[in-house]
Amino acid sequence: MSKHQFTGKRAIVTGASGGIGSCMVRDLTAAGVSVGLVARRRDPLEELRRECSANPGPTLVAPADVSDRDALNNAVKAIRDAWGGIDIAIASAGTYIRGLALESDPAQHLDQWRTSYLGVLHLFQAVVPNMIEGGWGRLGVVSSVDALSGVPKESAYAAGKAAEASLAGILRQELHGTGVHLTTVFPSRTDTAMTTSLQVPGISRKIEPERVARVMIRGMLNKRARSIVPFIGPRLLIGADIANTYLKDTLVRRFRLSGWLEDE
Ligand SMILES: NC(=O)c1ccc[n+]([C@@H]2O[C@H](COP(=O)([O-])OP(=O)(O)OC[C@H]3O[C@@H](n4cnc5c(N)ncnc54)[C@H](OP(=O)(O)O)[C@@H]3O)[C@@H](O)[C@H]2O)c1
Repeated sequence: MSKHQFTGKRAIVTGASGGIGSCMVRDLTAAGVSVGLVARRRDPLEELRRECSANPGPTLVAPADVSDRDALNNAVKAIRDAWGGIDIAIASAGTYIRGLALESDPAQHLDQWRTSYLGVLHLFQAVVPNMIEGGWGRLGVVSSVDALSGVPKESAYAAGKAAEASLAGILRQELHGTGVHLTTVFPSRTDTAMTTSLQVPGISRKIEPERVARVMIRGMLNKRARSIVPFIGPRLLIGADIANTYLKDTLVRRFRLSGWLEDE
């Protein structure tokens, strides 16, 4: 990625060790952005740090569980102490659990929401007040098309992503006029470790994480409120859902859009 208005800025990316998060780290450091890398496991973060070491933007590894507010605050402090501030914060940490709503363990739903919903809240509560003080900031949330129109076996995941997207949409409005802008990206199934074992029909092939990363960074550069990736497929499904929910349900069943695991 060439130089742009983010060059020289300081960023934090959660979920940095994984598919979409790590692609954003590569793009941002290539553009000369300093990036603090957050995820629970240190080793993949160190590996990414080594991989990006030739890029103009430096990296700093700050492992934390985003559902643990104190741990995340410590990671934010380490990054802020190192660079004197944080201008860009992107929430990409997430996990995916799957199962029929009536048969699933409520504790697993809570775990999912702690990472997706609380993870975003913790991050933004830690970084946004200083951005407002400085009059400039860019926030990014990697939500999911599931947040806009969910499919069977993804109740815990979709509800967590919807809560996260709802929080993001409200925060964006609350930040109006502060100089801090928030972009939410809604990707469809993406080819990362999260979905390795999930089979999907040809009609809704997994997209590349690099593409989602590019859409996020472009969206933040252009102060877009939200982007759905890819452009057409999910919009057709969301449109069908709005026009006639039974049409959407039929399309989901007919094309097996909820995907399947080997043993399902
Ligand atoms: N893959 C898809 O089909 C898809 C589609 C739409 C949206 N998304 C969203 O995209 C985001 C990134 O997912 P991905 O596809 O890139 O999956 P991924 O490769 O599995 O990456 C997930 C990242 O989140 C981190 N993470 C998970 N729980 C965490 C926690 N409690 N605290 C801190 N970090 C945590 C993981 O690292 P550690 O395990 O080391 O913590 C990893 O870095 C997620 O929010 C996901 O919901 C994914």
